[in-house]
Amino acid sequence: MDIKIIPLPAEKMKAKIADASQLGFGKHFTDRMLMVEWKTGQGWCDARIEPYAPFVLDPACLVFHYAQEIFEGLKAYKWADGRVALFRPEMNARRFNQSGDRLCMPPVPEELFLKGIEQLVALEQEWIPTAPGTSLYIRPTMIAVDPVLGVKPADHYYFYVILSPVGPYYAAGFNPVSIMVEDHYVRAVPGGTGEAKTGGNYASSLKAGLEAKHKGFDQVLWLDGRERRYIEEVGAMNMFFVYGDKIVTAALNGSILSGVTRDSVIKLAPTLGCQVEERLIDVNDLMTDIRSGKVTEAFGSGTAAVITPVGKLCYKNETLQLTGGKVGGITQKLYDTLTGIQTGQLEDDFGWVRFVK
Ligand code: COI
Repeated sequence: MDIKIIPLPAEKMKAKIADASQLGFGKHFTDRMLMVEWKTGQGWCDARIEPYAPFVLDPACLVFHYAQEIFEGLKAYKWADGRVALFRPEMNARRFNQSGDRLCMPPVPEELFLKGIEQLVALEQEWIPTAPGTSLYIRPTMIAVDPVLGVKPADHYYFYVILSPVGPYYAAGFNPVSIMVEDHYVRAVPGGTGEAKTGGNYASSLKAGLEAKHKGFDQVLWLDGRERRYIEEVGAMNMFFVYGDKIVTAALNGSILSGVTRDSVIKLAPTLGCQVEERLIDVNDLMTDIRSGKVTEAFGSGTAAVITPVGKLCYKNETLQLTGGKVGGITQKLYDTLTGIQTGQLEDDFGWVRFVK
């Protein structure tokens, strides 16, 4: 499918953010966006890259009432030689369609997903920040736009992609966060939508996140929805625990998001001399292992924050410190290696990088 490029009038061009410390995360957006529509009987149509602008949508649109919505997150980096690199975008294309299947939304052909993003990023490459820790965050999204209040899959969807030049996800940058194990609210249940990247999962996490903040913690660590006993995810990230030279993470069980960074950590760790174990992690055993010093480090992984060290963990009013509240050696090594591959400073032995033509 051809993507039409709609001219960008000079008056719609925004000033770029020159000072990287002012970027924050997801606060600024580039001049253009990708927009494609899908209609029953017609399929994908009217693909275009157009000036970034608000939508005019009917207040009755399905997405506003029943949250038929999915999204993705990936990043583009500008290398020192001027090339623009995407990190494993095929994984996001696949996961987008898995999420879409769960939400009864039409699949976006992988070629359209990738070509649309590449063309948009190529046009907007002047927006890619290059200071350490910065990148261009790419947010593909699909929403149901039929103006009808019956609960049913829509007949009309918008698939769109917006771009945001970003700094670190956490204002504190690459520094240890404190997390609270949530033993009342749950994020996902077996058979639910936990594995899908859909807005509702994030909306329903807000209350627990706010309560944790009021208690002085940065993030919530979710337990399984059936027994509230097994570790699932932390905030919007997957979670890893380091036992000496072994790294343990929760096995994918249908309610955990299958993170691209999670998969990258699992593949990278053996090259750094660490074995990886994907299994059930009982929170009680975990607390015992932290107390005894068997767990030497903990970190979260996600596209937005890459690797986030965990310095403190609280469960049932007992707060334990990890790695003396500092960044652990393996956590640091994984962060340096991943960001090194993403920014072209280290060899990409896995073939993860895809250059924008
Ligand atoms: C990502 O890491 O891209 C995420 O999905 C987190 C996001 C909700 C900010």
